[in-house]
Amino acid sequence: MATKVLMVCLGNICRSPLAEGILTNMVDATKVLVDSAGTGSYHLGNAPDPRSIAVAKENGIDISGQRCRVLTERDLEEHDFIYVMDKSNYHHVLGLCQTKEQENKVNLLLGVTDTENTEVPDPYYGGADGFNTVFHLIKEACATIAKNLNQKEDGSTP
Ligand code: 4NP
Repeated sequence: MATKVLMVCLGNICRSPLAEGILTNMVDATKVLVDSAGTGSYHLGNAPDPRSIAVAKENGIDISGQRCRVLTERDLEEHDFIYVMDKSNYHHVLGLCQTKEQENKVNLLLGVTDTENTEVPDPYYGGADGFNTVFHLIKEACATIAKNLNQKEDGSTP
């Protein structure tokens, strides 16, 4: 059975769509399924932010077909690994968890790499530069996740 990974941010239009697109691009789609969702519903049904679409496109990744959706309780059950972009998302998602097993699935995305940054900053109110920074922070973490997932056929902790 495929390993299921969920990327979570607040709006599901800037950071988590990038994380979904970047990790999808790095894994075998028959072995790893990647999705994304937001903790907020402000942009429900919308395509990713044009600035996220643009920075992804500059890096050879098309995320324009994604649509914003809200995190559900079912997501906590269905996914094997849930990566959140910042501490606010982290506390929100933990608050929705009903079991210790669900809580154990939730980690800060940048926690997978040894970096000074623990949070992927919210680029929504900034300029294009912020989106470029965010893209590269996410890419580095996703490379580690992809490497670990590809090594672990049993789908244990990446
Ligand atoms: P995201 O960025 O969480 O990376 O998708 C945001 C998008 C929209 C808003 C906040 C953050 N908003 O307040 O509408």
